[in-house]
Amino acid sequence: MNIVHSAQPAVSLSEKGLHVVLADGRQAYFNYYWLRDNCPSSFDPATRERVFDIFHLERPPRAETAALDGDALVVGWQGENHVTRMPVTTLALYADGHRRPDPADLPRRAWHGDHYRDVARFSQPDLIADRSKVAAWIEALIVEGVAVVTDMPDSDQGLTETAQLIGQVRPTFFGAYFDVRTHIKPTNLAYTAKALELHTDTPAEEAAPGVQFLHCRANSVEGGGSLFADGVAVANDFRAADPHGFHLLSSIDIPFYCEHDSYDMRSRQRVIELDDKGEVSGLTISQHMADIFDLRQEVLDDYYPAFCRFGKMLQDPRYVMNFRLQPGECITFDNHRIVHGRAAYSATSGDRHLRGCYTDRAEMRSTYRALVGEGRFKT
Ligand SMILES: [Fe+2]
Repeated sequence: MNIVHSAQPAVSLSEKGLHVVLADGRQAYFNYYWLRDNCPSSFDPATRERVFDIFHLERPPRAETAALDGDALVVGWQGENHVTRMPVTTLALYADGHRRPDPADLPRRAWHGDHYRDVARFSQPDLIADRSKVAAWIEALIVEGVAVVTDMPDSDQGLTETAQLIGQVRPTFFGAYFDVRTHIKPTNLAYTAKALELHTDTPAEEAAPGVQFLHCRANSVEGGGSLFADGVAVANDFRAADPHGFHLLSSIDIPFYCEHDSYDMRSRQRVIELDDKGEVSGLTISQHMADIFDLRQEVLDDYYPAFCRFGKMLQDPRYVMNFRLQPGECITFDNHRIVHGRAAYSATSGDRHLRGCYTDRAEMRSTYRALVGEGRFKT
């Protein structure tokens, strides 16, 4: 081993960790537990999992020797016959306690009611044949929250194979798939011909499903136009226009429910969801599934007017895309961000059938990362 010692030591040991001068001149500190646990030898190259168990160390890890050697920091450990060669690139990445870069952390682009002609569209056979198209599709779902898949096979299987390009079909308490058409004994407003106000799906679930697929199999009725709006666009404007109302809607949980003969689902959600940077990441809203608000009535003196101001804003035509889904199209969208609804239709004027299912947002991002890179194990 060729350890370079300079007059000014680049590495100095202290009680709980060591200081090292990085290639860019930064003085950085690393804790001994962190250095020992994340030794490259801790990870199995085949499974990519950590195979070192730090809980089994007999005493706290402590460096006996440490020095820079080319592109690595070499650490010899006290009381252990083990040497760590930690790449300096890894040290540089973790030196400041910043989160690991995530290729799926793409900035959201808010859109308005005139967005329909610009909605990203992907042909289903192209998606099946070309994984780079799947990456572009997911990118649209992360950035804009909505995309249309065209040329869908007219089959149940067509929806399944499309959803599985992104992730596993994620059941809700209604089951793995749902068919939106008029039902004789409806358990849900969706299964009638009535208008359906803008909403996100299944807010009564503790973790509502992330990505929704609606495959149009038939649409020959009069009426029944689709309505879609970007919750991020509306909530951002609401934040600027009504900061106090925004604060209430993004900090107070309200109850949602879904109840019928054999189920009684309940949850509490915030109407406006913020991400860890404090930016609007989406909405949870549904007039037909909002439970009776069980907040203190004095709180409602402020909450209700804000809730209504926001609800009115959501319906403003400048935010709402209004279009007709065509048979063979499948609209895909972020169920925590995009609100959707439909105009009433005449059930006797023809057929209207949308078959739907969901996948997870986290799994969608996982698929995207795998398509655009190889994470820490990229070679
Ligand atoms: Fe819905």
